[in-house]
Amino acid sequence: MSEEKVYQVPADIAAKAHVNAEQYAAMYQRSIDDPQGFWAEQAETFLTWSKPWDSVMDYSFQADDLHIKWFQGGKLNVSYNCLDRHLATRGDQVAIIWEGDNPEEDRKITYRELHAEVCKLANVFKSRGVKKGDRVCIYLPMIAEAAVAMLACTRIGAVHSIVFGGFSPDSLRDRVLDSECKLVITSDESVRGGRHIPLKKNADTAMLECPNVETVVVVRRTGGKVEWTEGRDIWYDEAIAAASAECAPEEMDAEDPLFILYTSGSTGKPKGVQHTTGGYLVYAAMTHKYTFDYQEGEVYWCTADVGWVTGHTYIVYGPLANGATSLMFEGIPNYPDMSRFWEVIDKHNVAIFYTAPTAIRSLMRAGEEPVKKTSRKSLRILGSVGEPINPEAWEWYYRIVGDERCPIVDTWWQTETGGHLITPLPGATALKPGSATRPFFGVVPALVDPAEGTLIEGPGEGALVLSRPWPAMMRTLYGDHARFADTYFRQYPGYYFTGDGARRDADGYYWITGRIDDVLNVSGHRLGTAEIESALVLHPHVAEAAVVGYPHDLKGQGIYAYVTPMSGIEPTDELKKELVAMVRGEIGPIAIVDIIQWAPSLPKTRSGKIMRRILRKIAANEIDSLGDTSTLADPTVVNDLIENRLNK
Ligand code: WT7
Repeated sequence: MSEEKVYQVPADIAAKAHVNAEQYAAMYQRSIDDPQGFWAEQAETFLTWSKPWDSVMDYSFQADDLHIKWFQGGKLNVSYNCLDRHLATRGDQVAIIWEGDNPEEDRKITYRELHAEVCKLANVFKSRGVKKGDRVCIYLPMIAEAAVAMLACTRIGAVHSIVFGGFSPDSLRDRVLDSECKLVITSDESVRGGRHIPLKKNADTAMLECPNVETVVVVRRTGGKVEWTEGRDIWYDEAIAAASAECAPEEMDAEDPLFILYTSGSTGKPKGVQHTTGGYLVYAAMTHKYTFDYQEGEVYWCTADVGWVTGHTYIVYGPLANGATSLMFEGIPNYPDMSRFWEVIDKHNVAIFYTAPTAIRSLMRAGEEPVKKTSRKSLRILGSVGEPINPEAWEWYYRIVGDERCPIVDTWWQTETGGHLITPLPGATALKPGSATRPFFGVVPALVDPAEGTLIEGPGEGALVLSRPWPAMMRTLYGDHARFADTYFRQYPGYYFTGDGARRDADGYYWITGRIDDVLNVSGHRLGTAEIESALVLHPHVAEAAVVGYPHDLKGQGIYAYVTPMSGIEPTDELKKELVAMVRGEIGPIAIVDIIQWAPSLPKTRSGKIMRRILRKIAANEIDSLGDTSTLADPTVVNDLIENRLNK
């Protein structure tokens, strides 16, 4: 082992685990030597199919012949796999524990109850003209109805597109239009940290420019006042009360689309990542079981929002396919106080807890006391996701939250990958704080020298690519297969390019170093610099803007904007405030610009391309390593930017 600190697998965990170290090695080898046989077995083990597939896998990673297909010809239904097939054996088991923002509010929903509610909503969707293949937008807070809506879509073969409840009306509009949704489901308001947010009002604003939306279903969450569009809007509770609880599951092809989820890229507008039915669900179920070593009867809690892929795969689809009890939390980590997470763990006997480094870092600031006053005895496994976890946060999570008993699975993956790709398995993998460790079954990561395009063998650092498909990988970008090919397969021919950089150590462990494209990761949320720049230049006083990330103690990355005002415009603090508000208004509260530096001009090459490398260095206050500036059209521009830099 290399010089980093290593935590061996605890003996008690290994003894009970689904996969120990020897089994991991053997299964991994098999998944590489005989992928067809391996995945056929997994698909049979984890899911119930109404018709077996004709071929396990067929793919090409060549940009000009790009296609990825799994279990072609196989037929199944996702809601059947997540609900119906459990009814005989676990109908009365709790499927979802809902914990409200207010600690006094909670709700337990059994598999039987969830099944009935899903069928009813599916019938409501049908009665409003939603058919197989139609798109439905889900714009809901973290309430059980979000899971119901997802599963109701899958019941009838509709494709859901969830828009995170924190996104602005403009972001919602863009996504609804891009995927041509005909129905939107939202709630009167959402509740977070005791505050009410007017979700229906946002949806109404977005709908002004979405003429194809025929129906807006409104869940009554708070009873807050809402505007009503007669003929278009219907109350969820009233519609459900009138609907039948019988709804036969639509038989879907393994490669039929399951959902679209928008995510930010390095250029242009967010792209609609499209996942399909069979492969996604096999992989969701399998990774949920093995990565978290989920054991029958355990309460499992993933703190993500269903608006992100983590919520899709690891609150709803993976856990429910496995018949697990999944906790869904409406609130935030610091409300009513800094002990909330740990109180919830004690209240519901949570065994597996999966959260983001940004949450851990902010809780760490409150010290040990809010953690230590709780028991956390029920905890067995901890997980981390969304961004690289710094070793200090890892150690705190391990020592203070897990009492040095609970392995931490640091799971690396992406919206595009559908499920975990590089992650420890609790019973199999020795841990190194800050490393996502080793690939999951069937996954073949590789590192490429970004300058030479050559493969790096052994220890080294480079662009992280994947050599082979896995069942849950995205199939295309909704409506834009060419962009799919260009974004992920053009740069390193024959490989899927992740956008991340990584280092591989002498033990073959992977250490994700972060994005190496123009994508930011702010508090585990992905934002494109191009999106933020477009929002900034909407302001009439802005001539030009360039946005980069910089290291931020709490958020991982902060947003640093260089802004050139229109000539004759006085750059004031007032204007800065307007710009911050502008970006927030355009994208949503996750997009808060931290620093705005006025830039008389931006460093550009002679062909007019902004040299972001230099802007990143200045924002990070690393001015000794600016690199070559001689190719700039006007190298003196840099001096002004250095002199007036704001992160010193
Ligand atoms: C990007 C994907 C996948 C779930 C949530 C984010 C970063 C994610 C880790 C990790 C280091 C990580 C990467 C990746 N990331 N997990 N464990 N260690 N980095 O999904 O919004 O699609 O973002 O998040 O940079 O590319 P996403």
